[in-house]
Amino acid sequence: MSPALAKSVEDYHKGVKYLHESGIQRVPKKYIFPISERPNSSYTINGKPKMSLPIIDFSQLHGPNRAQVLDSLSYACENYGFFQLVNHGIPEEVIRSMVDVGGKFFDLPLVEREKYMTTDMTTPVRYGTSFNQTNDGVFCWRDFLKLVCEPLHDVLPHWPSSPSEFREMAIAYSKETKILFIKLVEAILESLGINVTTKNKTQQQNDDVEEILKEFEDGSQLMAINFYPPCPNPNLTLGMPPHSDYGFLTLLLQDEVEGLQVKFNGDWVTIQPIPGSFVVNVGDHLEIFSNGKYKSVLHRVLVNSLKSRISVASLHSLPFNSIIKPSPKLISEKNPKLYKDTNFAAFLEYIKSCDSTNKSFLETRKLT
Ligand code: OGA
Ligand code: NI
Repeated sequence: MSPALAKSVEDYHKGVKYLHESGIQRVPKKYIFPISERPNSSYTINGKPKMSLPIIDFSQLHGPNRAQVLDSLSYACENYGFFQLVNHGIPEEVIRSMVDVGGKFFDLPLVEREKYMTTDMTTPVRYGTSFNQTNDGVFCWRDFLKLVCEPLHDVLPHWPSSPSEFREMAIAYSKETKILFIKLVEAILESLGINVTTKNKTQQQNDDVEEILKEFEDGSQLMAINFYPPCPNPNLTLGMPPHSDYGFLTLLLQDEVEGLQVKFNGDWVTIQPIPGSFVVNVGDHLEIFSNGKYKSVLHRVLVNSLKSRISVASLHSLPFNSIIKPSPKLISEKNPKLYKDTNFAAFLEYIKSCDSTNKSFLETRKLT
């Protein structure tokens, strides 16, 4: 069959890179969003408004400006749910190699990529397209490769062995992002008043924080390499629909092509890429843990007609079997518990059966 006439369901499941390479001139109906959900013409990728997220200079965290940095961190997590992290200490080479090898993976012939295609959400590696391929009525203009990163020893044999340097680069990247995540958690606990660095810290406080950090060390990590090929009608579709991330924090690496939009004061605003930086966002689990103080904010992705875009999202949280609940330290008579306890299993059950966009999972966790 001529790929130019790609119409069948099976063809959509081959992904959007396949559609792009088949030379289609218009997006198929399957990808056309209802008017109200399309990129609004006044907020198109080349238009206004664009917003700079709060910028956190991580190198300042261990200097005399620590208190200020923690304040900015807290302000960003409360009011934006997002920040850009610069001077984070991950070597440029590790970042560049990850983006390069991710790109090379998507350059492989479809038969090679297809080997990892499955609808089973529990596999250590999953190649797919759209957002939630089995449930999506309208498809999104995105292909992805998802890698479970823990425990590395068990998952590694399942990771793609082609391109030849894939595993080496992805291991280096996942280890570096994990270390950075732990450092971020330490700072975030402190910004929430849970981890105190005063000299008066009691042994008990010390032990509590150590225990939380230990749990995160053994925590879950999932990497999603997202590929957004050029799209003939970027105004009719989305690379990703509005969603929040389910973990504790997401560390997102984007290349120099813009596309990420964050919901801020009711508007969709485009986030300008800062080369070599990370976009970090609060996930549902941190919103729950902070009892609603820090916000897991909706975001989506626009595509464009000229350039491919690659991003690597590293989602971190507690171990898969942990209970996620508001920190007892943040709950008092004045601040009652606002969320039910939850776990990954509940989330997986939910996304299997429902539309997981629009923060709908988190809504089901709220105590009314
Ligand atoms: C994600 C995500 C944004 C992007 O992977 O959850 O929101 O820019 N990605 O690719
Ligand atoms: Ni996301």
